[in-house]
Amino acid sequence: MPTSPVRYLTGITTTGTPHLGNYVGALRPAVEASRRAGTQNFYFLADYHALIKCDEPARIQRSTLEIAACWLAAGLDPEHVFFYRQSDIPEVTELTWLLTCVTGKGLLNRAHAYKAAVDKNVAAGSDPDADVTAGLFMYPVLMAADILLFKAHKIPVGRDQVQHIEMARDMAQSFNHLYGEHFVTPEAQIDESVAMLPGLDGRKMSKSYDNIIPLFAPPVQIRKQIAAIVTDSRAPGEPKQVEGSALFQIYQAFASAQETQSLRQAYADGISWGDAKQLLFERVDREIAPMRERHDALVDNPAELEKILRAGADKARVLARPVMAELRAAVGLRSLAAKTGATVKTKAAKAALPAFKQYREADGRHYFKLMDGNGRLLAQSAGFDSPQQAGRTISQLRQNGLAGLEVALELAQGVGADEVAAALQQLAESR
Ligand code: TRP
Repeated sequence: MPTSPVRYLTGITTTGTPHLGNYVGALRPAVEASRRAGTQNFYFLADYHALIKCDEPARIQRSTLEIAACWLAAGLDPEHVFFYRQSDIPEVTELTWLLTCVTGKGLLNRAHAYKAAVDKNVAAGSDPDADVTAGLFMYPVLMAADILLFKAHKIPVGRDQVQHIEMARDMAQSFNHLYGEHFVTPEAQIDESVAMLPGLDGRKMSKSYDNIIPLFAPPVQIRKQIAAIVTDSRAPGEPKQVEGSALFQIYQAFASAQETQSLRQAYADGISWGDAKQLLFERVDREIAPMRERHDALVDNPAELEKILRAGADKARVLARPVMAELRAAVGLRSLAAKTGATVKTKAAKAALPAFKQYREADGRHYFKLMDGNGRLLAQSAGFDSPQQAGRTISQLRQNGLAGLEVALELAQGVGADEVAAALQQLAESR
């Protein structure tokens, strides 16, 4: 019975500078969603993924800075969510290798991004893999590691990423099949209600179409961009159509229902395009201006941002480390002194299972310790107020291993977390 909160996790590739389309389509809904009760939310800067597309160090660094500043300025609260930089979590790359070893090469051959690159080469008469790095090929494995490491349930993404989530599920299932139930199988979550924002030329706002309005550019520049939005040639006084009007759609993405209704009326009444653009500028600026101040302050103070990201990584690694210890133990990368999983299958070996012992100390508090099959002390708990509390923690350890453990467990002298994880694994397998 899962009583733990639903975990949402999503990565933001650190290339480029966010624009209004990113804000409406990703940042704003994510910040709102991060405040839902009963959820745990993970947002990270996918800078390892950025390396696949970009080999300019200064641009990688600059984009990471700008994107982090945008998310915080948009209201993401790093105290309340997990906000970190992917490359600050070494467990991500460590897990990438474990997953690489359970992933069929054929599965990766079918990834859309890789296939598109191959098709392009073939059409050009080049070698199919010309200019394709192994990084591009491995992209889905790295992404699966991002997700599976934190046992995330729901992955809010755009449609173009759904195949990657399906591949992450495949990898989780292959691993679980081979090594026991360690991973949650994640699900993509696509928000249908989020409108696609048109750009200056009416097509989807996207850097690749060069039709964007930057999110935190100086107001004069935003005003200039808005002036460049395509309209038809209807003169002031002539009624105008809201259907197919990029200007109207962008306005709607920022305005209340009532404000939208008045602009609709103004269109019918023949508002001039110049006045309509002025209204749009004012409406966008009303929402963005307060955030711009925070954004600019952060960009001007990279040391503060760095501190926030480091703290986020520390918080995330508290979860990642025990999961990785559990996974290492599960695949057999574990202390040579730890009992192997194979022996627990025999009856004689059962007698040599690790065991929990509960006891009470002179301080009146309740404790437990974990012993290996030979009675050697592996770990000891902190004090609990009641034996029930100690018992609950024990059953949690039996079920989930070290993952999600919220109380302190002190390792005995000379004992590693991998050994404790292996012992718990052995207990779980013997049930
Ligand atoms: N590939 C995603 C994108 O380009 C970014 C990403 C990296 C991601 N790792 C992730 C998204 C994990 C969700 C979960 O949009």
